[in-house]
Amino acid sequence: MKKEEIVALLNQDLEGEHGAIIQYLSHAYAMGEGELACEIEAISREEMRHLDWLAETIVELGGKPSMVRGKMRMEGKSVTDWMQNDVLLEDDAITMYKEHIQIIDDHSIKRLLQRILSDEESHHGDFAHFIDKSRKEDVKDLRGDNANATMQVLKWGVEHEYTVILQYLLHSYMATNERMKVEMEDQAINEMQHLGWLAEKMVSGKGSPRAEHGDIDNSKEMSDMLRADIKIEKEVAAEYDRAAAEVGDEKLKQLLKRIRDHELYHVEVFDDLLKDINKS
Ligand SMILES: [Fe+2]
Ligand SMILES: [Fe+2]
Ligand SMILES: [Fe+2]
Repeated sequence: MKKEEIVALLNQDLEGEHGAIIQYLSHAYAMGEGELACEIEAISREEMRHLDWLAETIVELGGKPSMVRGKMRMEGKSVTDWMQNDVLLEDDAITMYKEHIQIIDDHSIKRLLQRILSDEESHHGDFAHFIDKSRKEDVKDLRGDNANATMQVLKWGVEHEYTVILQYLLHSYMATNERMKVEMEDQAINEMQHLGWLAEKMVSGKGSPRAEHGDIDNSKEMSDMLRADIKIEKEVAAEYDRAAAEVGDEKLKQLLKRIRDHELYHVEVFDDLLKDINKS
């Protein structure tokens, strides 16, 4: 089997993981705080680990990880319906991994997929159990249709954070400088934290976060990647700053300022990396 063919299959798997992460996080955020939401977030973190392993393998094979999101099953009116859909999404993943394990002839990649498959089988059981649990505990969709100015800020923030998560992950995978790889991944994780804070804030205010993202920088050179990252961080820090000054809610103001400070820190980290890379 040619390397490019394996890369194409692994990218299908990667896209599936991306879809699962977003589907599960959307469900967890919409339920507000609670045990079930935490358990679902934990599953979502396992899917992130899968995504990471697949992307690193793709890069080792000389490929580029796809940032396209695979299929999601977002229909359903109740939390119980959602859990049913999460079971179905795991079914989809299990079917695809089994197929790919069959056709890929590289031993260590087969082993990796086998490892991921065993997680998916375990998730399948978890979500099947969550169908009952959500019904018994009457877990509710807490979102509402509030779309006031505060919700607009939060909605914009969620979409921005989702964009930079993907962008920094891609830049981390494509970087050949070890320090840049580590820093980009670290900042991507920090952006995931921002995404969670903003989405949860939105749901607690009876809004409805939308899991959509903007354009992702596809530069080939590390210095171009960093310049794009610095540009987006500066813009977004200014935007959070403006929003923090405008909102009346003191807690939200503090949250926006805290995120703004992180973004300013990101600018500095990326500036340093750029200097480093330009020197070498
Ligand atoms: Fe899974
Ligand atoms: Fe952020
Ligand atoms: Fe940032």
